[in-house]
Amino acid sequence: MKENAYFDNAATTWPKPESVYRFMDSFFRSHGVNPGRSGGLLAVEAEQMITATRSMLAQFFGFESHSSRVIFTLNGTDALNLAMRGLLSRGDHMIVTRVEHNAVLRPANHFERDMEVGVTRVVVSGAGYVDPDAIRKAIKADTKLIVINHASNVIGTVQPLEDVAQIARDAGIPLVVDSAQTAGVIPIDMTSLGIGVLTFTGHKGLFGPMGIGGMIVSDSVDLAPQRFGGTGVDSLSHFQPEGYPHKLEAGTVSLPGIAGLHAAQLWFRELGAELARASQIDADDVLCCRLAVQHIHAVELSHLKRIEARLNTFAKVRIVGQALDTARVATLSFTVDGITAQQVADQFDADHQVCVRAGLQCAPLVHVDANTADGGGTVRLSPGFFTDEEDMQQLLCALDDVLA
Ligand SMILES: Cc1ncc(COP(=O)(O)O)c(C=O)c1O
Repeated sequence: MKENAYFDNAATTWPKPESVYRFMDSFFRSHGVNPGRSGGLLAVEAEQMITATRSMLAQFFGFESHSSRVIFTLNGTDALNLAMRGLLSRGDHMIVTRVEHNAVLRPANHFERDMEVGVTRVVVSGAGYVDPDAIRKAIKADTKLIVINHASNVIGTVQPLEDVAQIARDAGIPLVVDSAQTAGVIPIDMTSLGIGVLTFTGHKGLFGPMGIGGMIVSDSVDLAPQRFGGTGVDSLSHFQPEGYPHKLEAGTVSLPGIAGLHAAQLWFRELGAELARASQIDADDVLCCRLAVQHIHAVELSHLKRIEARLNTFAKVRIVGQALDTARVATLSFTVDGITAQQVADQFDADHQVCVRAGLQCAPLVHVDANTADGGGTVRLSPGFFTDEEDMQQLLCALDDVLA
């Protein structure tokens, strides 16, 4: 039996590709100087690694413009705060959905309370999907921002991004997309979708470490900076430089975090190249990334389908939402009659060394709408690309034991 059969990849993917651990360690040892600040070759090479990572991420997300608009932040939450606050002024109106994470809901609540921002929280269907028409109808003359969670971290539903992006484009309103649960799992082509700001986190599907995230700011959007400080350039200027990325990156960036993302981006390309060779496809880097992402998604969904099939054999289990096979990521939530989510998770952990997440998963409105908030939320299961047969057997055995 494994010491830890890990089924909490929606919280953070674990483990990471071996090359991520190795590169972070070696680069931090060999180049752990202040990039863009310290002098000498090491600082230049550290800066080059950062620039190369911006370029790879731009390519990964189909952003064809200059990669200086790839901004590094502390995490996904930080990127969302900076994007939303950078687009809103006192008295504006914004649209979010009820499937959002607190990384969106709480800032929106603060803007509503402290900046008199009007907030429309668009309802999702019982299955867990947003009706794009409901977003269209919520638009007002003073709507300055639409934010959408690409995939729910509770029930795994993937929202109709193309349709929502089209509505935002037609109305000339910037769309901020929270890709925390889809980056690295579902291909996202920012340019063809016309997304205003794409926010991402490093530690989930992008296989980087915690403490790094970011956003890509399209040319059609200009974000007002929310943080001011040193950038290593233009130091005599009293104010934050106007150019990207310095406009939005004050202070020293996380070199180890970016090194992790760098190695992970190379890993996606290598995985995709292997898949292309196996299918005798001639693939450039963009296609390699797409192949890798699609493969990861398929592997994760195959685990999820087995778990779902087993859960469906227990009459007292209720799976929340109805994610469609064509629009879902490998995350599901369930409740069990007569036992709380926390009790299930505790038993999984204590008796079977199976790690899951119980509770509200920082997305309270999903639970309010599903009537699972008062009972202590759900048990969330999220297999990952590195989930193996031993993990699966351990989980299936735990399900049989605890739910029987
Ligand atoms: C949908 C969603 N958005 C945002 C976040 C926040 O990301 P981070 O943990 O990087 O701040 C999460 C993290 O769980 C998430 O699932």
